[in-house]
Amino acid sequence: MRKNSTALVTGGNGGIGQEICKALSNQGCHVVAGYHPADQENAEKWQAAMKEEGFNFSIKAADVSNADSALEMVTQIESEIGPIDVLVNCAGITRDKSIKKMDIEDWDAVIETNLNSAFYVTKPVMMAMMEREYGRIINISSVNGQRGQFGQPNYSAAKAGLHGFTMSAALEGATKGVTVNTISPGYVETPMTSAMPEKVLDAIVSQVPMRRMAKPQEIAFAVAFLADERNAYTTGANIPVNGGLFTSF
Ligand code: CAA
Repeated sequence: MRKNSTALVTGGNGGIGQEICKALSNQGCHVVAGYHPADQENAEKWQAAMKEEGFNFSIKAADVSNADSALEMVTQIESEIGPIDVLVNCAGITRDKSIKKMDIEDWDAVIETNLNSAFYVTKPVMMAMMEREYGRIINISSVNGQRGQFGQPNYSAAKAGLHGFTMSAALEGATKGVTVNTISPGYVETPMTSAMPEKVLDAIVSQVPMRRMAKPQEIAFAVAFLADERNAYTTGANIPVNGGLFTSF
């Protein structure tokens, strides 16, 4: 990892985000965990709990589905903490429903939080990275963006879109030392999957060739690899971490 790097992880206090924060911190980054403003009390408790474990994370509130809020967070981090060298767009929600039952609010909320947010946060961060000619951007997508999933038309669309965004951003960053890649996790042991109906989750896990869900640490390990300074020639790529649930080129 580049010395004295600052990393911003949106959704940093979430199930996967927390392990990404730890992995980047273990590699020597100063980590800023982004959290939703409505989650302030929990985020502060989380920060204190992490400190007990020996992790000195900064935290910053932003509604990343809002362009102004995202920009304000990035501006504050760059002026108060330092230039962001590593950005992990990890904030995400689900509103699982079949198309038949899904209303426009469910559609919009997921597209805004899981896809538009990546543009809102990446734009200011990436422009500054390109000026400094160094950066690592990692977008957290999903196996369900690659293959679709019953009950997730909004989520699958957002996560597939996220990799389209990655590929285009990679081309823009290529001559400026900025790599942009996607990680597509399968089903991971997090509050997001534990909120699923048990029967549905069991049926899905029984189809995973490894017959188990991922540990969040297994996703974080792939993020740390992409975030490393030495990982300079991989860009526009997608790394699936899904236990074999979906195999492709
Ligand atoms: N394939 C085909 N048909 C299915 C189906 C499936 N997987 N699941 C349900 N159906 C059928 C039912 O048999 C039923 O048919 P009939 O009407 O003929 O009886 C019909 O579809 C029911 O449709 P509904 O719209 O009423 O669906 P529901 O309300 O029963 O269930 C749901 C909808 C709760 C969203 C459910 O489909 C579900 O939980 N799906 C899983 C979503 C999922 O995988 N979420 C992942 C969350 S974690 C995450 O997102 C992280 C990550 O990146 C992986």
